[in-house]
Amino acid sequence: MNRIYLFLLIISQFNCSFLLDGLNLQKEDNDKNLLLLLFAIPTGYNWNLPPGFPTPVVPSINPMSEAKVELGRFLFYDRALSRDQSMSCSSCHIQEFAFADAKVFPSGITGEIHPRNSQHLSNVAYHTRLTWNNPLMTNLEIQSRVPMFGASPVELGLQNNDFVNRLNANPIYPPMFQRAFGDPTANEQNVRFALASFQRSMISGNSKFDQYNFRNNRSALNPSEVLGMNLFNGEKAECFHCHGGFNFTDTAFHGNSGSQEFFYHSNGIHSDTYYAPLSNDKKGLFDVTGISSDIGKFRAPSLRNIGVTYPYMHDGSFMCDDSENPKITLGKTKRDCAKNALTKVILHYESGGQTTVAKDTNLIRPFGLTVTERENMVNFLLALTDEEFLTNPKFASPF
Ligand code: HEC
Ligand code: HEC
Repeated sequence: MNRIYLFLLIISQFNCSFLLDGLNLQKEDNDKNLLLLLFAIPTGYNWNLPPGFPTPVVPSINPMSEAKVELGRFLFYDRALSRDQSMSCSSCHIQEFAFADAKVFPSGITGEIHPRNSQHLSNVAYHTRLTWNNPLMTNLEIQSRVPMFGASPVELGLQNNDFVNRLNANPIYPPMFQRAFGDPTANEQNVRFALASFQRSMISGNSKFDQYNFRNNRSALNPSEVLGMNLFNGEKAECFHCHGGFNFTDTAFHGNSGSQEFFYHSNGIHSDTYYAPLSNDKKGLFDVTGISSDIGKFRAPSLRNIGVTYPYMHDGSFMCDDSENPKITLGKTKRDCAKNALTKVILHYESGGQTTVAKDTNLIRPFGLTVTERENMVNFLLALTDEEFLTNPKFASPF
């Protein structure tokens, strides 16, 4: 298998300032204060994991607590986190779409279009590398700086710490910061840490597949879905090589895995002709490494909740035919849209991917499915939707 295994032991040393594109951020992580705080933090967190799910690994610098998760939920939905107070994380990560947003590309507070499709956040706690293609994005504590402060593209558009003053001025927050961090005053780092804890709590493991596979309910999947699952896990379609394991991705790190595993693949999509004006920033792993064989390589997304995370791929290039109507109110259900778009994805794989691009030819090569087999595969993918996750009040807006 032609897989690249990047082994970067720079997690704690990594300085992500280049990601912030010229912003002069004060790095206010003060290790001494942090150590003192660690002792004040209430420890012990009940993950309440679904059967079959390993325990996520959490950076020791930011242990989980109920208080942080709850604070993080407020912050995730709070528009105080954007420069003009018009957007929050939840503007591009919407619960009913498993925290994706049903758009080809999102735009930030200035209207600038993001060159990548919004990712869903189900089980993000297990991703040892975040975003579509950045192996330097090693944890959630770092990642949130990009939407908050990034200038290219602008997402939440923060340019200074005024948002911290806004939080401190809101009477709901001091008691919550006190409970979470032992200090009633908000600061930039604690905001990011609480956001990370909330996102780690977003565990999704109650799909029909989970009931069948992990809860021993053999009638949870119908015969078509079972046939689709066997195809998915078979050597004809090869899907499981890159989308395997309990989280349907080969990028994973948790209590039962010996090491951090992360891979980048080309699945035969990187001509990016779909949105040509943006193509200069769309070369996958190459954008970060500059190595020509990395052109077109992306992290294989987790296929959990794939029935609601359309449009698919880093460039949103697979969408249902009614793509101008992302909320699908004109007679098309979400399921109809996903079926339509997933059929296109499977046809893409059957075709062996774009012919002009380098790809993992052992796994991305032409094969043929009958119409019924293709339907079975789509039905199986739709059985990965966890309705409970999409409506669970624990992840919903507190406002
Ligand atoms: C303007 C829309 C937008 C906003 C606002 C936004 N995001 Fe995102 N998010 C995206 C896009 C697009 C990606 C994919 C980025 C990439 O690959 O470069 C992403 C990726 C992520 C990821 C990586 C997921 C994965 O599977 O690796 C996390 C985590 C995340 N966002 C959290 C947040 C948080 C926390 C906030 C608020 C502080 C936020 N996002 C605000 C659009 C947005
Ligand atoms: C060689 C590894 C590899 C194989 C094999 C593979 N995929 Fe993928 N898959 C990827 C990568 C990488 C992406 C993201 C590519 C991109 O964004 O351009 C992806 C994206 C997807 C997506 C879109 C996910 C999203 O959130 O946008 C779906 C659906 C999908 N694959 C299904 C399948 C199915 C079904 C099969 C088997 C027929 C399969 N994949 C085989 C690597 C693979």
